Amino acid sequence: MTRAMQSYLSRRAAVLGLASFGIGSAAALCSRSAYADFDLELAPSLRSHSRVSGIKFGCAGAAPSVQPDRILLEKFATEANIFVPETALKWDATEPRPGEFNFGEADSIAAFAARNDMLVHGHTLVWYAAIPPWVSQITTSQEAKAALERHIATQVPRYRSKIWAWDVVNEAIEPEDRLENGYRNSVWLRALGVDYIDLAFRLTRAADPVVPLCLSEYGIEYATAASQRRREALLGLLQTLRDRNTPVDCLALQSHLEAHQILDHRELTSFLRSAVKLGYRLMITEMDVNDVKIRGSEPERDLAVARHAAEYLDIVFSVARPMSIATWGLSDRYTWLRQYYKRSDGTPLRPLPLDTDLNRKPMWASLAKFMAA
Ligand code: G3I
Repeated sequence: MTRAMQSYLSRRAAVLGLASFGIGSAAALCSRSAYADFDLELAPSLRSHSRVSGIKFGCAGAAPSVQPDRILLEKFATEANIFVPETALKWDATEPRPGEFNFGEADSIAAFAARNDMLVHGHTLVWYAAIPPWVSQITTSQEAKAALERHIATQVPRYRSKIWAWDVVNEAIEPEDRLENGYRNSVWLRALGVDYIDLAFRLTRAADPVVPLCLSEYGIEYATAASQRRREALLGLLQTLRDRNTPVDCLALQSHLEAHQILDHRELTSFLRSAVKLGYRLMITEMDVNDVKIRGSEPERDLAVARHAAEYLDIVFSVARPMSIATWGLSDRYTWLRQYYKRSDGTPLRPLPLDTDLNRKPMWASLAKFMAA
């Protein structure tokens, strides 16, 4: 064995050790000139951890036909075994006019996934947003039911066996709307009442008998009154859906985290335990860690992001191993957050596992630790 190979193997073993011991240490190493000692780029990919742990890793992105960022797509195929279309499977993309379907972008993602032995996370069938004007203008229960039936019966079978799981209903609660049970005031609720949720899941189950069906939500992580109201409303909905025998398999925890916030270990743990006790499997589906309010250098911010991610994942894993972890983007280069949040120092946000140059960051090491769990 050559000296170079010996050196590579000893460094790889060291990096493996890096990924397995405390994230604080791993991230701390990354925050100093650890790159001289440990090269995260040599560590096994998140996808390779998935083969061992059985936890799938995904990331959201644009269709190759829309954003042909070849190097980023190579990283997708290296790190992930799930591709989450960030927008390509939403109603405004696939059925812009009644009965007129356009699956071009979604098909390009499905083809890329198939070429790279990946699956697609179906995001999302029924949402209050990303809907075309003709859907926003629905007012009667008959129109709403007919629209849901046609949309789901057309879109779901098309991707059967290519889809890992479906986010059937997205963001159904919004306590700030002050409606009964904290339901969100949406075109669907106004036209059909809360029955729209049960209907959406039954239609999807009829269209695909085996794919896991998810209810997707955000904003339940923190020690704030708003998070507590969301946890209470979501748990109430999960209980209602169980009482109705609605075919919901998973709770999709979007996990859009904010590094400056305080995670509510007790209340979040209690909420997750209650959801699991109701028979819901857990998925982490849109994870990113917003560092808009974290002061300091990039390495210090990266360390804060990595630690916050690890603290959150530790809470989730203490209750149940999620079926999958997906981040909402793979690289800081394309995070959605930059459209809505600006740091006071004017520097770009750093919420994702890879930086804008597609190098692994301490957050990547946090994910590796739990993907290997
Ligand atoms: O493709 C059009 C382009 O042709 C047009 O020129 C441009 C300007 O109007 O808009 C482009 O579409 C945008 C699309 O992203 C693709 O970039 C839409 O306007 C914009 O609204 C859309 O935003 C997405 C948003 O969901 C709504 O679909 C974000 O990228 C995406 O990150 C965000 O993701 C959501 C999840 O689905 C649910 N959970 C929260 C998460 C973040 O908001």
